[in-house]
Amino acid sequence: MTDEDKNEMIVTPWEVKGKVDYERLMREFGTQHLTDELIQRLGKYTGDVHLQLRRKLFFSHRDLDAVLDLYDKGTKFILYTGRGPSGPVHIGHLVPWIFTKYLQDAFDTRFYFQMTDDEKFVIDDERALPETTKLAHENALDLIALGFKPSNTFIIYDVEDIDLLYDIALEVAKRITYSTARATFGFQDSTNLGWIFYPAVQAAPCFIHKKLTGENVPALIPAAIDQDPYWRITRDIAQKLGYHKPAQIHNRFLPGLGVGGKMNASEPETAIFTTDPPELVKQKIWRAFTGGKGTVAEQRKEGANPNICTIFQYFLYLFEQDDKKLADREKQCKAGETLCGDCKKELAERVNKFLAEHQKKREKARNIVDKFHIKR
Ligand code: TYM
Repeated sequence: MTDEDKNEMIVTPWEVKGKVDYERLMREFGTQHLTDELIQRLGKYTGDVHLQLRRKLFFSHRDLDAVLDLYDKGTKFILYTGRGPSGPVHIGHLVPWIFTKYLQDAFDTRFYFQMTDDEKFVIDDERALPETTKLAHENALDLIALGFKPSNTFIIYDVEDIDLLYDIALEVAKRITYSTARATFGFQDSTNLGWIFYPAVQAAPCFIHKKLTGENVPALIPAAIDQDPYWRITRDIAQKLGYHKPAQIHNRFLPGLGVGGKMNASEPETAIFTTDPPELVKQKIWRAFTGGKGTVAEQRKEGANPNICTIFQYFLYLFEQDDKKLADREKQCKAGETLCGDCKKELAERVNKFLAEHQKKREKARNIVDKFHIKR
């Protein structure tokens, strides 16, 4: 395999590889730029412009403007996002969830969260269903640890709660042909039937609010852009079924600690899981790929490259809230005033401080997790 092949971009809901070209993805998926104007507009409702918006970590959308137009006229929206429980949660997964919490607080909306133990079972030959179901319940603790309120947060565990989704999934599935599904998801002759039906199940929560409350309002879905193929097919059939088209707001991928690609649970040495102990976090960060030079002398003289540095990305996404301090860090890196070891040490301290708190909240969440279940 040549270096070029290794770097080839693959972005599907099940695999992200290579250097991600976000502009190309937007063109291919047909999504819109999240413009400064739209960001400012969001900021008017929320009172402040979230770090993830200011730094363009959320960068693309579908129909966010239409959702806000409706909101102005008195139609609320619901928030919907989810998790495919394939292992422990990593800090990349937290990116869209933290943003969802910001939107939920600002707009005081209902929030539906789907745990897709079915998806992770059907797409992986090796996995047993009890395993993904168990992980779904464990992963729910991470969501709750972020501070969502049980009064307006509803977790759907697919296998257990399929009765709530099944009629909607059938309506969706009946209107999507195999040829559309194949073109959207790349299904092949060897793809199992469970996997082929599954997209209808992920579509269902977009519409569940009407069934539960009688209110017909749009869903707004914050998620990384890998999930977009699901919404393309869902949007095509939404109006035929009497619903609003679901809207999206897309985030970029927090990279892994290696070269290229997103943080990925299947590469545990380059992912930071929320359950990792401090020593392991330090080790992983210590081995991370940076934009540093071969020797200290060279780096002092020529400076390093924060644009390709994974460590810098972690400050950018989650671990430096202050824009000025982030800009200073970038400047000092480029000028060779800081060395990679300095940044790594500081990042490890910050990540471990965050995780210590998160892990405490995560354990406490065990006592209240049932209050978030849609069938409570
Ligand atoms: P999953 O478990 O792969 O990912 C959960 C959420 O995290 C986002 N994500 C990332 N964001 C930033 N940086 C990363 N490195 C990173 N890796 C993953 C994903 O886009 C997702 O938002 N099929 C889904 C589960 C699902 C869902 C949904 C997701 C069901 N309904 C509605 C979003 C919205 C899945 O396997 O997600």
